[in-house]
Amino acid sequence: MNPWPVVIGPLLFLAACTAQPQVSRGTGAQLYAQTCVSCHGHDAAGNGPLAEDLPVPPTNLTRLAMQNGGNFPYARVMEQIHGYPGRFHVMPEFGPLLAGPDVNWRAPDGTSLRTPRPLLDLATYLASIQEEI
Ligand code: HEC
Repeated sequence: MNPWPVVIGPLLFLAACTAQPQVSRGTGAQLYAQTCVSCHGHDAAGNGPLAEDLPVPPTNLTRLAMQNGGNFPYARVMEQIHGYPGRFHVMPEFGPLLAGPDVNWRAPDGTSLRTPRPLLDLATYLASIQEEI
């Protein structure tokens, strides 16, 4: 008799339970590290390695709430990252890269929006690193 399924089954179950929250919390941070650090920098202050070669300085992404009366502007940030045509000239559009399963998301102001999951993860990560006012 092969004892492995008996042992591995519960182990996989345990791994799924313990790993899940970490994975979802870290997804936005991982996406940021992979796609945004080069310009916006590790601490998101706008000082990535490519920053000085750009004609327009990358925005400090830790002050978006501060500049918006203390509320993190989720919808605007997601639009800007997604890249509506003509909105930015220097920052690339990340809509295609961040496409994913769409989820229903309720904004803090109560409005409901359908948005790609990776875009929401990224915005949630940025919201979590805002400077205190
Ligand atoms: C090639 C460099 C570059 C990369 C890579 C980049 N950005 Fe930007 N980003 C910029 C620049 C430059 C601006 C300033 C606006 C412009 O493009 O003229 C900007 C502006 C923004 C803004 C607008 C802030 C505001 O309200 O004014 C947000 C939000 C943002 N970036 C988020 C991101 C995120 C998230 C990523 C990764 C998915 C990313 N950026 C990757 C260069 C970059």
